Amino acid sequence: MFIANIPLRGYNAGMQTIPINTYTSPTVILELIYRLKIKHVMCRKLYTAGTNTTLREIQLLMREKSITGVPVVEGKRILGIVSMDDIICALDQGYINDPASKWMSRNLIILEDDMPVSFAISYFDKHKYRRFPVINKDKELVGMITTRDITTGLLVELNREVDRIERMKTDTQSEDTRLEGLRRYEIMKHNFEKAGLASMEIKKRLKSHGIPSPVIRRAAIAAYELEINLVIHSDGGEIISHFFEDRIEITARDSGPGIADVELAMTEGYTTATPWIRSLGFGAGMGLPNAKKVSDEFTITSHPHKGTEATSIIWYQPNKEDAS
Ligand SMILES: Nc1ncnc2c1ncn2[C@@H]1O[C@H](COP(=O)(O)OP(=O)(O)O)[C@@H](O)[C@H]1O
Ligand SMILES: [Mg+2]
Repeated sequence: MFIANIPLRGYNAGMQTIPINTYTSPTVILELIYRLKIKHVMCRKLYTAGTNTTLREIQLLMREKSITGVPVVEGKRILGIVSMDDIICALDQGYINDPASKWMSRNLIILEDDMPVSFAISYFDKHKYRRFPVINKDKELVGMITTRDITTGLLVELNREVDRIERMKTDTQSEDTRLEGLRRYEIMKHNFEKAGLASMEIKKRLKSHGIPSPVIRRAAIAAYELEINLVIHSDGGEIISHFFEDRIEITARDSGPGIADVELAMTEGYTTATPWIRSLGFGAGMGLPNAKKVSDEFTITSHPHKGTEATSIIWYQPNKEDAS
């Protein structure tokens, strides 16, 4: 693939720039910014003003719609743009009730909807503006673009791309790997760094064998909740994922400290999580009830000194709707 050497400075060129450059960014990213057009990421919902609209009205529009720049139009033609800075000046110097046409900047830098996103990135790098109007071939205003639109658009595309790469990888891996089998994951107490790894692997394995996504989702929820409980409540234990032809059985087993009242622990909202654990975003008391809800069969037994064992069974041919 040919990549033009557009001087995208990125990284340290100021806060409005996007950290991508033609020298060090991975090819996947570069391909994306050349393949994606501005029209794919720009914001099409336009809030515009007419030449007689006052700066005050524009200020109110900006506040109401949480935007920082308003194009001034006549029909579909753009004549100028009023930015938040213009409004601040107007407030400062007392001409906020003047019509937009008197103060708008007419010195416009405009992008075209068919240009690649790389072009827009280089524009944000080169110019101090935080947004650019976008026109089509007929010179009609069709959208506005900000760095945020670009990062959001890139993230959406990147998700797709990474998903595709992951699928390709698992496809080739799964050629000789059968779904059936058993895996164990050791789970350590308070090891938040690795928390979620077992459930992620379970998810991946189901995915690579074409199990329907709602089923995968349920299995991932059950596995994740049981895994997190081992991390935050137990002294350590293991997650065992047992894959069968028609179902998966996920078991969480630990050797203590056990649950005194299992029925109570299964109640929505019940938690013994400490404030510290809660500050980390865990401990809503919904884990066990949710794990049960997404399972076709769910059992939990616990002995105060011996520990806890919970098992979730999920069939691939679902007899339950996606309960999450
Ligand atoms: N493996 C376990 N060992 C000891 N206690 C547990 C274990 N799993 C769950 N519990 C207890 O059950 C309660 C409810 O669990 P859960 O519904 O997942 O909510 P949360 O994890 O948000 O507290 C926990 O607060 C804890 O007291
Ligand atoms: Mg929990």
